[in-house]
Amino acid sequence: MSAIERILERARWAPSGDNSQPWRFEVVADDHVVVHGHDTRDWCIYDIDGRPSQLAHGALLETLAIAARDQGLVATATRRPDSPDARPQFDVRFARADAIQAEPLAAAIERRTVQRRPLRRRALQPAEKAALQAAVGDGYEVRWLEGANRATMALLLFHYAKLRLIAPEAYAVHRDVIAWNSRFSETKVPDAAVGLDPLTTRLMAWVMQRWSRVEFFNRYLAGTVAPRVQLDLVPGLACAAHFLIVAKDEATTIDDYVAAGRAMQRLWLTATMFDLWVQPEMTPLIFAAYVRRDRPFSRKPEIWSRARKLAGRLHQIIGDDARRAVFMGRIGAGSAPRARSLRRPLAELLVR
Ligand SMILES: Cc1cc2nc3c(=O)[nH]c(=O)nc-3n(C[C@H](O)[C@H](O)[C@H](O)COP(=O)(O)O)c2cc1C
Repeated sequence: MSAIERILERARWAPSGDNSQPWRFEVVADDHVVVHGHDTRDWCIYDIDGRPSQLAHGALLETLAIAARDQGLVATATRRPDSPDARPQFDVRFARADAIQAEPLAAAIERRTVQRRPLRRRALQPAEKAALQAAVGDGYEVRWLEGANRATMALLLFHYAKLRLIAPEAYAVHRDVIAWNSRFSETKVPDAAVGLDPLTTRLMAWVMQRWSRVEFFNRYLAGTVAPRVQLDLVPGLACAAHFLIVAKDEATTIDDYVAAGRAMQRLWLTATMFDLWVQPEMTPLIFAAYVRRDRPFSRKPEIWSRARKLAGRLHQIIGDDARRAVFMGRIGAGSAPRARSLRRPLAELLVR
């Protein structure tokens, strides 16, 4: 395996929404790779204007740079300005550097993974917070929601989860991105990593096969309650804190989101070094962005009016940070997940 292949082998462990891995690699020369990105806005309601995919592209480029530094190489990435935003291309060039600084975050690349199950409630130490703030750099501020705010956020997430579960547009995504009956998946999110207990998982696997079942279950059997308690309310309470990565200047371009993705990944890898687990909680930010742009994302009017109400609630809690936040999640110590997403093998990601 060449040095570049060794670096790509590690870079592919970067996180992406629903494990979509929106990237392919073209090795042009010993010191040059073109990353062919894409997004999923055509079919995924969560990928609003491709922004979450662009965060993932940033995470990939950051992971690539960290893996390169671990091999004594400096990786410099530039986006081709003429490539469309929905299919961005990045030239990554590698150069040998003599006095390269050691890269401690490299040790966390493969270990970093989402933990969606309850975490410990012990508060973060000042040193942990300081390291996480340093990880995102000067362009961003990490805002913590702890103590009583934790319950406020848990309740907000519980309400947002209802939108996710009653919107037919979201159902289509969940049906396609969850790998049922599995602990590991190269292309999807295994159901065992989602955070439901085994019985509810089995029930959901059956219900989710058809929209008519989901509707019946929701209408007559309060079907959203058990999953929302298990996936949102309990984990929302059982963590050290919720947090936002807030850009000092509002992110508006693809380059802003790619840069934000790099910061997000540095924070996530730093958390991993401290044995802290992270779960992204992007739904409130994404649905609030639809509301800000006045773009109904569901054919059901009831869902749109709920989304508008919840966006108002989010604004009450975090104020103008709702506009400048590029990432939201929860964090805490706890045990490692027993299930996780894997990745497509490198051979599948290489293109000519
Ligand atoms: C931009 C972005 C948004 C994400 N949003 C969510 C989310 O809202 N909820 C969640 O549970 N996981 C979310 N994830 C986590 C991905 O599902 C996860 O990274 C992916 O499935 C790969 O799994 P791994 O991180 O455990 O390797 C998000 C990840 C990224 C990069």
